[in-house]
Amino acid sequence: MEKIVQNTDHDALTCKLSAISTRYIPCPLVHKDYFNYNDIYLSYYQTLKTLLSRRDQGSINRALRNSYPVMNYGTYLRTVSIDSLLNSYLDERVSNEYIQVVNLGCGSDLRFVHLLNNFKNIKYIDVDFKDALELKGKVLRTNLKFKQALKLDTEIMDKTENGSQLIHTENYVMMEGDLKDTSDIITKLSRYTDTNAKTVFITECALCYLPDIAAQRLIDKIIDTFDSGYWISYDPIGGNQEKDKDRFGKIMQDNLKSSRDLELPTLLKYFSEDLYSSRFTQHTNSSKKITVNIKNLWEFYLQSINDNEKKRLQKLQFLDEIEELKIMQSHYIILNAQW
Ligand SMILES: C[S@@+](CC[C@H](N)C(=O)[O-])C[C@H]1O[C@@H](n2cnc3c(N)ncnc32)[C@H](O)[C@@H]1O
Repeated sequence: MEKIVQNTDHDALTCKLSAISTRYIPCPLVHKDYFNYNDIYLSYYQTLKTLLSRRDQGSINRALRNSYPVMNYGTYLRTVSIDSLLNSYLDERVSNEYIQVVNLGCGSDLRFVHLLNNFKNIKYIDVDFKDALELKGKVLRTNLKFKQALKLDTEIMDKTENGSQLIHTENYVMMEGDLKDTSDIITKLSRYTDTNAKTVFITECALCYLPDIAAQRLIDKIIDTFDSGYWISYDPIGGNQEKDKDRFGKIMQDNLKSSRDLELPTLLKYFSEDLYSSRFTQHTNSSKKITVNIKNLWEFYLQSINDNEKKRLQKLQFLDEIEELKIMQSHYIILNAQW
């Protein structure tokens, strides 16, 4: 099961490479110069390819050849919505405050490269299963560009525990763990972070793979443990089958189960924006005030992408499935919760 969930990262990476190679990303509205997406992701992929099995290479290459506009729009909206929340939070604070960023279920995401290259006051913690992080660590160490950018010099490599491939530098930590094991995650987070410092948590298509109880425990414990936090979450929501006869979630769930044996345990339970955000507002520790904002990605597209940018996107590929895009993106949410 662990392996099946880990493989979802190949999809996320492939989608990102596809959206980069077709120039949806970077987005001029949010990706300042330092978001050097092309260079960073293409470099990462060149090195990753040499470490993957032929089968995995083949499936990524096939997916890249079939780069559909609706998928690229989806990846664009996912990346831009998260980066715009992250930028606004950091822009207001990072010049005079120390900020920690924890990416839970980080997969191959490389946001830390942009951020660490540009801000001195950030510590970044990538959390995922050990195998996933070891592969990522191998790519970063093998590629000279990352080795230099992350200052993975000999001294730091020597500091790694038990010959493990997991990277630990002063401002970047790979933390292995199972997000279902809340107490282990909290123990390790307390070791690698300062729980009194402002901390951003990112869950980008990660909470959706956790059983309900485990996800809720993780949210509650993190809010309890960290004095001041900002949580950015992106996930699919199933839609209301009863009221709206909306079968999006049911079909998605059945397809993933039959094609990959993959489960999305909370997709149909927290099927609307209100239900999804209730996971953050129902927090039991009443002394903490939590402000939550949520919207679906179609709303984000309509409200936050200006006309010039919409025109730029239209020129990239011919999109005639606008209704399909609307239906799909109405079933993904971007949430931010602050306490
Ligand atoms: C769809 S991928 C998304 C990766 C990355 N967040 C992104 O959007 O590019 C889901 C990631 O969550 C990780 N994940 C899922 N369940 C996990 C768990 N119980 N513990 C640790 N990592 C988990 C997977 O290994 C995978 O890397």
